[in-house]
Amino acid sequence: IDISGFQNDLIHWYQNNKRDLPWRKDKDPYKIWVSEIMLQQTKVDTVIPYFYRFIEKFPTVQALAAADQQDVLKAWEGLGYYSRARNLQNAVKEVVASYDGNVPANPEDLGALKGVGPYTKGAILSIAFDQPEPAVDGNVMRVFSRLLLIEDDIAQQRTKKLFESYVREMIDESDPSSFNQAIMELGALICTPKSPACLLCPVQEHCQAFAEGRQEELPIKKKA
Ligand code: ADE
Repeated sequence: IDISGFQNDLIHWYQNNKRDLPWRKDKDPYKIWVSEIMLQQTKVDTVIPYFYRFIEKFPTVQALAAADQQDVLKAWEGLGYYSRARNLQNAVKEVVASYDGNVPANPEDLGALKGVGPYTKGAILSIAFDQPEPAVDGNVMRVFSRLLLIEDDIAQQRTKKLFESYVREMIDESDPSSFNQAIMELGALICTPKSPACLLCPVQEHCQAFAEGRQEELPIKKKA
């Protein structure tokens, strides 16, 4: 695969086709963090109004850290998976206590915060801090499994590590934020689970699954 050709085609498409989403208006790491936690188990369209209300109520790390837990859970009501909200508030309290309210910009400190797993850590480091870190979730595994025709079982924990190493090889070091968000956008808009829109795909010519007509067979997910 021609990595720089792929990066160019992908990022050019993203610049021209990205959705105007509220967490894309600035690079405040706190807002990126809130959005990525909300987006983990919830669809973009559902998250948008919650994100606006949450940021209005708790505009900063300090505001969220100082809030009543009941008010935080109330703002989360309807999103479900409430441990996400409790962990997020515990983590921002830690950010206030240990980092003077600044979201840490390194993998070790960031990854040690409650609720910040490898995906969230990579998303914050790349989107807010422009660091070339992978942010691999199910959507990213689907896109890369097709692009590189990777047949490993995505239900296996070790497969995610494999994808992280592929993303490290492919990521555009000059714009990791756009690269990771472009992959997410491609997975949401074009490289969908069923009937992917390959004829509209900006990176079709780089896609190994498309070349073999096997895009619908990927990713491979075995039942436990
Ligand atoms: N899904 C997860 N993170 C996302 C983001 N930053 N933008 C759009 N969809 C996402």
